[in-house]
Amino acid sequence: MTGLVVAMDGPSGSGKSSVSRGVARGLGLRYLDTGAMYRAMTWWMLRQGVDLDDPGAIGARCGEPLIVCGTDPDGPAIHVDGIDVAGPIRQAEVTGAVSAVAAVPEVRARLVALQREVIGSGGIVVEGRDIGTVVCPGAEVKIYLTASAEARAQRRSAELAGSTVQAQQEAMARRDTLDTTRKTDPLSMADGAVELDTTAMSLDEVIAEVLRLVAEHA
Ligand code: C5P
Repeated sequence: MTGLVVAMDGPSGSGKSSVSRGVARGLGLRYLDTGAMYRAMTWWMLRQGVDLDDPGAIGARCGEPLIVCGTDPDGPAIHVDGIDVAGPIRQAEVTGAVSAVAAVPEVRARLVALQREVIGSGGIVVEGRDIGTVVCPGAEVKIYLTASAEARAQRRSAELAGSTVQAQQEAMARRDTLDTTRKTDPLSMADGAVELDTTAMSLDEVIAEVLRLVAEHA
């Protein structure tokens, strides 16, 4: 690998997307949102009427959709079979189903291979749940972002009109449990990762801290 890879892992609502995009902009790097790929796969499965309670059915069909993910930190595009799904993949139906789809080993094998293709020779900030542990264990800088459950729920409900903090906190707790307890590539902190608790930090402070860590490792 020739270019820098920054691996940004952590639970939902920890600030990964905003921080990753800010860091990528600051360093002139590309940006990859791997969660968007799992969401795109889930959107396609729902559209096809695949039974999401049946991991065998998900695994059998996950090779079918063509998922293409852009790497521009200012507006990462994501297409499934040529359809722009940037909006639809954020809908509640997809958010509620994505962790079940992401737990299927065949789905992970396919998307991890695709992610490694996009990462290529580096020069990229990659956010997800298993970037430092599985997708790119050789990443030069590994960050594990956390925040209190309440802070994470507050951030998400501020982003989503009509959702209460409590409903968000419950939905996130369900997703966190599924993501940390699944058999294949569960969310966990990678060896050598720096943990940053962002509960009491502003976005600019977190970005500045990551840029400092990158400068330290360069
Ligand atoms: O980051 P985001 O919340 O969009 O991710 C959606 C879901 O995709 C996560 O809850 C998790 O189930 C799955 N995911 C994953 N591995 C990644 C990125 C996301 O399993 N690298």
